[in-house]
Amino acid sequence: MTLAQSKFSCSSYLPKVVMILGILKEDSFDNRVSTIPETVAALIKLGFKEVLLESEAGEGAGYRDNDYIAQGARVTSEDEIVSKSDIVVKINPLTGTQATKLAAGKMLLGQYNPLTNREVVAPLLSGKITAFSLDMLPRTTRAQAMDVLSSMATVAGYKAVLLAASEFTGFFPMFMTAAGTIKPAKVLILGAGVAGLQAIATAKRLGAVVEAFDVRTAAKEEVLSLGAKFVEVEGAVESAAAGGYAIEQSEEFKQRQADAVHKHASMADIVICTAQIPGKRAPILLRKSTVEAMKPGSVVVDL
Ligand code: NAI
Repeated sequence: MTLAQSKFSCSSYLPKVVMILGILKEDSFDNRVSTIPETVAALIKLGFKEVLLESEAGEGAGYRDNDYIAQGARVTSEDEIVSKSDIVVKINPLTGTQATKLAAGKMLLGQYNPLTNREVVAPLLSGKITAFSLDMLPRTTRAQAMDVLSSMATVAGYKAVLLAASEFTGFFPMFMTAAGTIKPAKVLILGAGVAGLQAIATAKRLGAVVEAFDVRTAAKEEVLSLGAKFVEVEGAVESAAAGGYAIEQSEEFKQRQADAVHKHASMADIVICTAQIPGKRAPILLRKSTVEAMKPGSVVVDL
């Protein structure tokens, strides 16, 4: 993941005064780093006076402090980064201590999911800090290089299938041996956005038989083009105002959908849930009774 790799490409955003940019280490559960060494060189070329790096910030993602130093960064403490940087970059929200040290007028760049993470954004609304939550960036063609939702969804969809494959005690591909034939795994993918499509593609490459379901009509063609079967449930509602995203469905539709999911999930070996509605809690598509009806040894991965 490379938030700052997203190129500060628009010349009007070039640092007018000489600025310091600071890269913080992510929280312990997260192996990512917001900025890779290659981007440090680009930032310095853009005119940043200094790029500061919290020691071992890139370690989890496979980048050593020396890789950053070689590109012009200076390794220092979290304290110095938060207090001296004009722009602080961290994918996850700042910790309470970090936030209190960030002075008025500074900029923060990350991914905060502000529509549902109110407690994270509330302190930022004081207006003293300018925060850019990259997940809120409109997904226009010009903004594609900064589309953190798509890059992360790609990783999540791919990894979900690999996780499922390693937990599953059977095989994904069909095996035809002298001793007999083993049928391929059946994979059901709920939601066919960026993550779901990547999950379909990955499961297909591993040789599984894949079915997918989505409420957007546009998704059907994409699912079919990847060689998966589309599970039809009639009556889904869409809204042009949602800008290509899914909207909340009626109770009646949800019941029909639950029945269809029940039927297909109980025949599947793997179910991967990727459905989301922007700014809302993800819909629960796999009910308890459905999980109970699934075959012993089957695997559910819920993104
Ligand atoms: P998302 O992460 O918000 O949702 C994932 C998927 O869940 C979506 O396909 C959605 O339709 C589906 N979903 C929601 N409720 C559901 C339900 N009850 N049952 C089954 N499926 C359900 O979506 P994502 O991946 O962020 O993409 C959504 C839209 O954004 C698409 O129209 C896509 O083409 C568009 N997009 C545009 C890009 C651009 O550069 N212009 C880049 C990436 C996506």
